[in-house]
Amino acid sequence: MLSVSALCASYGAIRAVDTLDLEVAPARLVTILGANGAGKSTTLRSIAGLHRPIAGSIRLDGVEIGRLPTHRVVQRGVALVPEGRMVVAPLTVAENLSLSAFAGRGVEGDMLARVYDLFPRLAERRSQVAGLLSGGEQQMLAIGRAMMTRPRLLLLDEPSMGLAPAIVDQVFSAIVALHRDGQSILLVEQNAEITLEICDYAYVMRRGRIVAAGTPESLRAAGAVLEAYLA
Ligand SMILES: Nc1ncnc2c1ncn2[C@@H]1O[C@H](COP(=O)(O)OP(=O)(O)OP(=O)(O)O)[C@@H](O)[C@H]1O
Ligand SMILES: [Mg+2]
Repeated sequence: MLSVSALCASYGAIRAVDTLDLEVAPARLVTILGANGAGKSTTLRSIAGLHRPIAGSIRLDGVEIGRLPTHRVVQRGVALVPEGRMVVAPLTVAENLSLSAFAGRGVEGDMLARVYDLFPRLAERRSQVAGLLSGGEQQMLAIGRAMMTRPRLLLLDEPSMGLAPAIVDQVFSAIVALHRDGQSILLVEQNAEITLEICDYAYVMRRGRIVAAGTPESLRAAGAVLEAYLA
């Protein structure tokens, strides 16, 4: 269970995220929706220990992680797939995956098989250097790398960004498969339509605050309001 309470984060004088409260219960797929600059990435980066919150509390399974260095947060079971999918370009797919396993909660052989099962395309291209993969394949590899750390909580920052619709479908199918397997996921997206189809619960952010929250059904019922926030 992730519980964020009154997290505030700033970049110098810019208050990127104001007071907010959010929760991800075990095995849930929760999303943060919001337009450009809403503070979605800052929130994820703060949870992952890449950005230090100036106030508030971030707890994972009851333990405060808000002031821990990033590698300790990873060891506690939080894995971030950042915006723009960071893969190690000169290394192969297989090397990228095995490198990540060491950062996490112990190497587990069957996780590699699970990643290849989830993304058959990565299995086919396992000896290819990551820098030569397509955008969609790099996104799959970035998610695979995060999975290799055996996360309790997977944080995904706009995995659909810049991908062709057919590839977006593949990436979202993999997210649905992970959710079905019981993986806890916090997914950040601008694409509200496709995201509300797959999540259990969604928060809507605007200008650093949560302005709406609820199940996909309740947010769809408030459709006009939601569109105004996402515009
Ligand atoms: N490194 C930075 N330095 C200064 N300001 C920043 C920095 N990163 C983000 N900001 C500002 O903080 C606010 C929130 O940005 P953030 O990147 O968290 O939003 P976002 O919801 O992820 O947006 P996007 O959809 O464009 O990725 C914005 O006003 C942004 O300009
Ligand atoms: Mg962002």
